[in-house]
Amino acid sequence: MTSIDLAVIPGDGIGPEVVAEGLKVLDAVCEALGGPEIATHTYDLGARRYLATGETLTDADLEDIKGRDAILLGAIGDPRVPSGVLERGLLLKLRFALDHYVNLRPNRHYPGVPTPLADSGGIDFLVVREGTEGLYCGNGGVVRQGTPHEIATEVSVNTAYGVERVVRYAFAKAQARPRKKLTYVHKHNVLVNAGGLWRRVVEEVGAEYPDVAVDYMHVDAATIFLVTDPARFDVIATDNLFGDILTDEAGAITGGIGLAASGNINPEKAFPSMFEPIHGSAPDIAGKQIADPTATIASVALMFDHLGLAEHARAIEDAIESDMAARASAAEAGAPLKRSTSDVGNAVAALVRG
Ligand code: IPM
Ligand code: MN
Repeated sequence: MTSIDLAVIPGDGIGPEVVAEGLKVLDAVCEALGGPEIATHTYDLGARRYLATGETLTDADLEDIKGRDAILLGAIGDPRVPSGVLERGLLLKLRFALDHYVNLRPNRHYPGVPTPLADSGGIDFLVVREGTEGLYCGNGGVVRQGTPHEIATEVSVNTAYGVERVVRYAFAKAQARPRKKLTYVHKHNVLVNAGGLWRRVVEEVGAEYPDVAVDYMHVDAATIFLVTDPARFDVIATDNLFGDILTDEAGAITGGIGLAASGNINPEKAFPSMFEPIHGSAPDIAGKQIADPTATIASVALMFDHLGLAEHARAIEDAIESDMAARASAAEAGAPLKRSTSDVGNAVAALVRG
């Protein structure tokens, strides 16, 4: 790959600030490793555009974005916009239209990084969250709205095709990792239809991966084990909503949501994949240069990995690890680093340059 055509969607709140640092590190790594060339195309999408024009993501925007190699997104959401408008009309529309059926969310605890856990030993797991089905489909509606007889439904859609492809991806990931363990999380004691499908698919696909150890956990139990014994997890495969919830918890136990990266991936590369921090737009701290850009920077590493540039990904991951160590030793010495968003980006970019 000699050049990357990158769609950049800074978005709302702290989005533009963290994306600027992601791009800074991206430039640094391409410079340090002698390429590829990066051409960025910034899209005015999010609250500003919606409030000015009523548009969230037009067909023309989508067509344009489809022609890029990858997407870097900051965050979406603004208190001036009714809940759901940008989430459904922009973020989820991109995930669905670009068939991002894998929502990849790695979680690792770096030594010395503050965590609410008493024993954080060895947290290093990957959540493979399904990205195009489940309760996120927008399948449902409201009848008799505003009356005492209102009925609101959201129907979870799970297809054999959709579950199988994401489960297959999760098994392949598990097989490539040293511990070769896959935990699938659902609630098949209550959600017997969707849970039954997930269960059968995991059993069937699992038969093709005899070297991967499989276990099952109800989602409620998984929230407990993430706190009491997170080191037991290697790869977690789960549906869209369970994965959303578990990955916020995973962010919290590994040092905060400011460190948690994600990739919305179309593994076949039929469409550009989209990389974004898990956190939201945090309007309360927007413009203050206090957001941690690490999650966005780590998302850039996921992007390089997806594009087949493993060395670039590794260089960024190593730099983040060193920066985490610097934070930890400063905190230990009683003088925690006080850095702006851009200070953190500069520090990681400098580490990448070596
Ligand atoms: C996430 C976010 C989104 C989700 C929202 C903003 C639609 O919480 O990426 O985890 O629920 O997937
Ligand atoms: Mn979420």
